[in-house]
Amino acid sequence: MKRLKPVERSREADAPEVPIPVKRPRRLRRTPGMRELVAENAVNVKDLIEPLFVVPGSGVRREIASMPGIYQQSVDRIAEDAKAAAQAGIRALLLFGIPAHKDERASGLADPAGEVQRAIAALKRAAPELLVIADLCACEYTSHGHCGLLDERGNVDNDRTLALLGAGALSYAEAGADLVAPSDMMDGRVAAIRHALDAHGHLEVGILSYAVKYASAFYGPFRDAAESAPAFGDRRSHQMDPPNAREAIKEALLDVDEGADMVMVKPALPYLDVLWRVKQAVNVPVAVYNVSGEYAMIKAAARQGWIDEDRVVDELLVGCKRAGADAIVTYFARSFAARH
Ligand code: PBG
Repeated sequence: MKRLKPVERSREADAPEVPIPVKRPRRLRRTPGMRELVAENAVNVKDLIEPLFVVPGSGVRREIASMPGIYQQSVDRIAEDAKAAAQAGIRALLLFGIPAHKDERASGLADPAGEVQRAIAALKRAAPELLVIADLCACEYTSHGHCGLLDERGNVDNDRTLALLGAGALSYAEAGADLVAPSDMMDGRVAAIRHALDAHGHLEVGILSYAVKYASAFYGPFRDAAESAPAFGDRRSHQMDPPNAREAIKEALLDVDEGADMVMVKPALPYLDVLWRVKQAVNVPVAVYNVSGEYAMIKAAARQGWIDEDRVVDELLVGCKRAGADAIVTYFARSFAARH
């Protein structure tokens, strides 16, 4: 490497000789055109999945306090909203239901006249080109708010819950869902769901499995939105422990083996390393869920004028892509679509 002349003694007495840089990575960052030319990743609206929350009633559109800009809507309003989403360029929706009636057995989950089932059909009528993904978990349907049926001691009974999930998946498939997305973290549920779907001829309905779902404090605002906070205890007996990453690979491989068409990692930001590892380990598309608490944090800071929301959102979404996400579930989907 060439050497600069020593700095004049009079100006800097003990300056060492400084090499002239020959390699200059800054050249490729000089102008927007140059940066775009060499960009390694980009977020496309087609990669995004927008979550929607359906509630009983008609004409209902209620903003969720901890998630500004996100609404609980009745079937009629959600169908209108889906048209707007499709017009904005959104291609896929993830649907959550808040039923009128909750009980210990989660009997609303597989009710053909349930909110989610009716909403799936309404969305398909309103915007047939939209992919409809139905979140599948008992927690919105149980009076105790747990993700499955409880045994006598109040613990989630894994194996009895599997039949319930199979029945729920079947009712979503019958309503017209393109994919079902089990988010409960019961062992063996992907196989149970695949079996229930296939046994009834729903060979084309896919499974997007929340294979790697952590027991996270970032789900707080969602539990307001879905009215699904557990009445007692927590979800640590089935959701993953944050210190673990090797276990994520095990969960993802198991789900692929059981028939998952896609797997998901959730939440996003604290787990991008896990997303990367899962992506290297499986040969199916990998989604990531940018969850409610991540949304709420950004909204709150932006409202204070402390961060630039649009720039932060673009940065976080491209970070998900860089970490290997094929698809991103995000409450920012609509606003991103409006800007791109
Ligand atoms: C369970 C489910 C949850 C979320 C998606 N599906 C909540 C939980 O496990 O407690 C969280 C999504 C979010 O925080 O945005 N049905």
